Amino acid sequence: MEQTRLDKAISALGEHSRRDIRKLAFRGLITVNGKAVKSPEKKIDPVRDEVCVSGRRLNLNPYIYIMLNKPAGIVSATRDPSEKTVVDLTPRGLYRRGIFPAGRLDKDTTGFILLTNDGELAHRMLSPKNHVPKTYIAVLDTPIDQEAVEAFASGMDIGGGEVCKPALLAEEPDWERQPAARVVLREGMYHQIKRMFAKTGREVLALRRIGIGRVWLDPALGPGGCRELTAEELELLVTTE
Ligand code: URA
Repeated sequence: MEQTRLDKAISALGEHSRRDIRKLAFRGLITVNGKAVKSPEKKIDPVRDEVCVSGRRLNLNPYIYIMLNKPAGIVSATRDPSEKTVVDLTPRGLYRRGIFPAGRLDKDTTGFILLTNDGELAHRMLSPKNHVPKTYIAVLDTPIDQEAVEAFASGMDIGGGEVCKPALLAEEPDWERQPAARVVLREGMYHQIKRMFAKTGREVLALRRIGIGRVWLDPALGPGGCRELTAEELELLVTTE
């Protein structure tokens, strides 16, 4: 991680102004790796160095990765003039740190949305050339059959000049007495799953994303719940094999 100024890294958390930081440093209340630092301009490594203010350790890693269980009725945007967004569901303060949804789910789709301020990771995760799989459960009006499995596997033409990459389709146990199926996509076209099922003559009654890469939506998160990714999950996020 690139070195950055101590006062810049601390003030980015939004809890202390640069003026406060100068005063705290002067009083010996800011430590870097256990040593009091009086100069707020000191360069630090925000990931590796242990920075404490008044004895409390700060997480200065400028990147945040949040797993959110998106409820239906919420839009996958950062801000919206009339609708509640996925960013509105996260703890206050994260908006100021520049988080945005890495990828979109339809307003009525539920499940795993990743929110981050790491543009590079979001790009890697979303780029079709990286093939990061996204796993969904679709509740359907009609059960799937072998013909639908083959159509998904062969790369479907869904109209509008869009042809899908091969996708995996498999049966899932019924959901509230409705047939259900698991779909794994490695790309994300507009309404892709709904359009793919429509091509096979089926309607998607509910859609839920349960996995991104090899990271699975935490079943402990209720609708609207969120938490930071663990270090292991972050590692797995862009692993495709
Ligand atoms: N496919 C859809 O049709 N909708 C989503 O939200 C995601 C994938």
